[in-house]
Amino acid sequence: MRKKIVAGNWKMNLDYSAGLSLFSEVLNMAKDEIRGDQKLVVCPPSPYLYSLSQMAGQTTNVSIGAQNSHQAEAGAYTGEISASMVKSVGAEYVILGHSERRQYFGETNELLAEKTRAAIKAGLKPIFCIGETLEERNGNTHFDVIKRQLSEGVFELGVGDFSTIVLAYEPVWAIGTGVTASPEQAQEIHAFIRKEIEARYGDAVAEDTTILYGGSCNPKNAAELFSQADIDGGLIGGASLKSRDFLDIAKVFN
Ligand code: G3P
Repeated sequence: MRKKIVAGNWKMNLDYSAGLSLFSEVLNMAKDEIRGDQKLVVCPPSPYLYSLSQMAGQTTNVSIGAQNSHQAEAGAYTGEISASMVKSVGAEYVILGHSERRQYFGETNELLAEKTRAAIKAGLKPIFCIGETLEERNGNTHFDVIKRQLSEGVFELGVGDFSTIVLAYEPVWAIGTGVTASPEQAQEIHAFIRKEIEARYGDAVAEDTTILYGGSCNPKNAAELFSQADIDGGLIGGASLKSRDFLDIAKVFN
């Protein structure tokens, strides 16, 4: 079901006590300030998942997500965390395919397809990230890159499994750089992604798919980005580490 979602990706930031303090601020501000049916998702470092899930309790408009999960159900994978472990500590979502994992950990579309299947099997909702590098955009191959990330990453799923997925378009050149895609640039790719979904699964599924934008989204540019027809919210990095900024972005949907 297409939803308005503002997800915060804390990445590898904040120690435990700072993380709990930030989340407590987000919960209290969301209770008082969020008026619409938008969903906030907070994705902390994995050691904090259980505590944040306990703090969120039965709160309906704030969910917890992990930043990654392994493709195997269990086994000799030192240091790794399985999707069922993430689910067992109360997470509802899991970010998969973030460009930093593709870049630093060599995660391929094929591996991410396995991770996505494992996450869905464990009952998690993947936030599946796609996006091109500056070199690919400058070389005008960005549509091909997005097409391949979709076809090799998620388009092998049946329609039921695909319907559990949230997509996040994150142009790599906009992540952490302060250089945000213009609303027109972002809308062009989001519309392309929705057309690709329509071609694969039909227009009803395409209409129902949530597609987030990520890459230097902040309280100043969120309203114009989220007003675009095919942008259903954001996957927020730096601005999610400040409760005021994160809530101001989420309040765009009030
Ligand atoms: O996953 C969201 C992240 O990649 C965006 O980071 O700091 O540009 O909002 P940032």
